Formats: sequence, C-alpha cells, structure tokens
Amino acid sequence: MSYNARKRLDHRERSVERRDKMLNRDRSNDRATVEEVFDNKTRMVVFDLMNSGIIYELNGVVSSGKEARVYWGTNKDGVDLAVKIYLTSSADFKAGMHKYIEGDPRFKDVKHDTRSLIAVWAQKEFRNLREADEAKVRVPKPIAVKSNVVVMEFIGEKGVSAPSFKEQPPENPEKVYKVIVTYLKRLYKKAKIVHGDLSEYNMMIWKGKPVIFDVSQSVSTQHPLAEFMLKRDLTNVNRFFRRQNVEVIPEEELYKLVVGK
Ligand SMILES: Nc1ncnc2c1ncn2[C@@H]1O[C@H](COP(=O)(O)OP(=O)(O)O)[C@@H](O)[C@H]1O
Ligand SMILES: [Mg+2]
Repeated sequence: MSYNARKRLDHRERSVERRDKMLNRDRSNDRATVEEVFDNKTRMVVFDLMNSGIIYELNGVVSSGKEARVYWGTNKDGVDLAVKIYLTSSADFKAGMHKYIEGDPRFKDVKHDTRSLIAVWAQKEFRNLREADEAKVRVPKPIAVKSNVVVMEFIGEKGVSAPSFKEQPPENPEKVYKVIVTYLKRLYKKAKIVHGDLSEYNMMIWKGKPVIFDVSQSVSTQHPLAEFMLKRDLTNVNRFFRRQNVEVIPEEELYKLVVGK
C-alpha cells in the first residue's frame, strides 16, 4: 500500500475525530461505525482503490444503513464520488441476500461464505447500475467495484446527497411519474432487470430530473421472484404518486405496459 494512501486514510480518520471533538458530542457510536466499516480487509480494499487512482480522498459518512454505509469521496480532479461500503458484520444480511442471488442466472457458482456473498452483492449492485445506465435509466454512474466496496457517481453536491422523494416530493409530479414509468419500462425491457426496492426512499431529484438508485437487490427478469418484486415496485410507485395527486395508471395496466412488447 502506498504511503500517500495510508496518509490520506489516517487523515480522514483524524478529521472525523477532530470533528467529533469540535462538535463536542459523544460520537462513540460513530467511531465504532468507522471501525466497523473499516475492518482490516475493507481498509485494504479502500487502500487499493486509492492506489489505483479511483478514490483520492474519503470524506464524511453520507448515510449509515443497516447493511451499508455510503461515504462522500473525491477523485484526483476533485470530482465527488459516492463510496458504498457493505458491512461484512451485518448479521441477517447473509440470509437476506441469498434469495436474490440464488435463481439469478448471472450469478451461478458463487461461494457461500459471508465475505464472498457480500462481494457478489456489491458486484451485483455495480452490474445493475451499469445495465440500467446502458438502458438509459438515470442512475448514479458506476465507477468501480472491489470486494464489498462500490464506487459511483455522487448525486448531489459537496457531500450533500440530492433529496429523496421522501425528503422532498417532486414539484412536477405528473411529469416525474411519466419519467419513472419510462424508466421502469427501460429497466424491464432493455436492462432486463427489476428494481425490487423501488419507493420514495430510493428515488431522488437531481437537477430537476429523477434518479433511481439502491439497486443491489435488483434481479434479472428471469428470476423466480421478478414478477412479485415488480408488482410490489409498481404498487409503491403508484401509492407515492397518488398521494401527490397524480392520476396514476391502474396497476394491472401499468404492469402490462412495463412488461409488454
Ligand atoms: N450515488 C449517490 N450519491 C449521493 N448520495 C447517495 C448515493 N447513493 C446513496 N446515497 C445516499 O445514501 C443513502 C443510502 O443509500 P442506498 O443506496 O439507498 O443504501 P441503503 O441500502 O442503505 O438504503 C441514500 O438515501 C442517499 O442519501
Ligand atoms: Mg436505500
């Protein structure tokens, strides 16, 4: 590992401590969090990504989920990155992941120890992002994946994520609904995947346009759970937009529209 990479990572960890002191808060939880994320193997993965010039700096935590933490990073040119690190310690993660990986023809023959499974999970998110992007669905552009770490385009500015629909409902919901329906069709027909966790929590507005993200659980349309997952997505999307007073397409019709020829 390069001296510079280590220096930058140490610097990040120190700046987190400095921030904690400055804020004069008990952030022992936060610190535990950093340690938890940066277990030794994960540290090495982050070092590697730094050495290979993908990540220059790792800044603050953007989001701490049950299964992953999202960090704000930058590359050498100062361009923002989102660095999603899957927790290798998440207990019921393994059982949860299984059902999405099994039955997906893209992920046959994977090892079944926790670390390998999480690496597949991260791979899956990266690949789903790429397939969505290629199908012209607006998602964070995938940049790199290594073990349990996914690097992607940062949606937002200076470490502040764009607001989710939950945080800030779209101002022009009719128009946004139409775009989302178009995305759903492209996801199904071109990318041949089903999002599987689509709701106001996993869509954001950036520069006036909707962005879909959090695609680690997305499955191939061939997956035995695909139909169930798609219908659930459509229910969630319709429910959200109905609340925004949009005259939504009835679910059965929408389903046919998305999967039809
Ligand atoms: N590419 C990104 N750019 C900016 N912020 C992001 C990005 N990806 C995730 N986030 C932030 O992190 C949060 C959690 O990310 P998400 O992928 O939904 O993970 P989780 O599995 O924890 O729900 C998002 O709600 C968003 O605020
Ligand atoms: Mg999410």
